[in-house]
Amino acid sequence: MQNGQRAIVRELGEDPVAGIASITIEEQPVPTGLAPGDVIVRVESSAVGWVDLLMTSGQYQHMPPLPYTPGLELAGKIVWAGADVRGLAIGDAVVADGLSTGPRSKGAYQAYGGFATYAVAPASAVRPIPAGFTMDQAASFFASYETAYHCLVACGDLRAGETVLIHGASGASGLAAVQLAKAIGATVIATGRSPEKLAIVKEQGADYVLPITNLRDDVRKIAPDGVDVVYDAVGGDISIESLRCCAFGARFLIVGWASTPFVAKGKGGRGAPNANVLPTNLILMKGLRVIGCPTAISTHRDPSIREERLARLMTWANAGALRPLVSRVFPLAEVKEAMIAKWESRHVGAIVIHP
Ligand SMILES: NC(=O)c1ccc[n+]([C@@H]2O[C@H](COP(=O)([O-])OP(=O)(O)OC[C@H]3O[C@@H](n4cnc5c(N)ncnc54)[C@H](OP(=O)(O)O)[C@@H]3O)[C@@H](O)[C@H]2O)c1
Repeated sequence: MQNGQRAIVRELGEDPVAGIASITIEEQPVPTGLAPGDVIVRVESSAVGWVDLLMTSGQYQHMPPLPYTPGLELAGKIVWAGADVRGLAIGDAVVADGLSTGPRSKGAYQAYGGFATYAVAPASAVRPIPAGFTMDQAASFFASYETAYHCLVACGDLRAGETVLIHGASGASGLAAVQLAKAIGATVIATGRSPEKLAIVKEQGADYVLPITNLRDDVRKIAPDGVDVVYDAVGGDISIESLRCCAFGARFLIVGWASTPFVAKGKGGRGAPNANVLPTNLILMKGLRVIGCPTAISTHRDPSIREERLARLMTWANAGALRPLVSRVFPLAEVKEAMIAKWESRHVGAIVIHP
């Protein structure tokens, strides 16, 4: 094996734009001194996650020690396996579990992200790529679709025949939510700022697509009594307007706040000086259930919630009902452009990097 290359974050920025600007591409020695249960994956594709952006400014709740290589999700082929590894062989195509290895994991594997030629993982943290998936789709699947499942199913109890309003629907987790909600049998109203991107979201299965400008009136024309579930990955003004789009007793799922990303202080200062605030009068009068849906935190706290989630996602994926849309592909040399494209929402579905 020859040395490769990797992206490195050595210092945190005041915000993701500054953090991304400071990323360097450096030579990557072939990893050595590994445990007998480890594998080395030669990365072919790694998805750019929202968490990858926030981590560069230390605004994410879970931080790897500096320096680290970003890239929470990756797919590639095994090029080395330790003496104790069973059931995996050199050349196997695998996807690595972003909760058990890479920057969002805990412990020794935090330094190995996907924006690199090589990633190291414990053998228990890699799994076969879903049937019929490309490497790009495999790298873009688990984080977004596990999020969609945790929010819509585990937290939101979305049922067939219900109506769900999905904000940020053109994004990685939003498009996963659109596909998943359709697989469940719900009616999907998807929102976004770009007619061009919304046309793609409709092709991906949304029943209705709406601009965010006249939300309450537009939603009421489709669902006169209001929607049963809101999947809110955008936050800010749209959250408050969405409370007014809800049916009595609806579930309001707090997924994220892509429109207000400066909730936490930069440079790792964290806290929540600019947190979004919801009006309690609307929540009370409509008998709403407002549910925070932190997929990674909930899974770290109770790993048992994952087995059913993965099994059902794989069943849908293998049946062709779930298929990530990868709209942008960048070489590792353009890692900063790839991350800024995500930051500026110049994508639909997933953005991936090819190391
Ligand atoms: N709860 C969890 O476990 C979990 C897991 C993963 C992600 N998240 C959160 O979910 C959010 C989205 O993540 P993602 O990976 O899907 O991001 P993404 O791919 O960048 O998608 C976000 C979408 O939000 C919309 N958006 C961005 N800025 C906006 C603004 N100012 N006003 C209105 N809409 C805006 C954009 O859609 P248009 O350009 O079409 O308007 C964009 O496609 C983030 O806040 C992330 O932290 C939460």
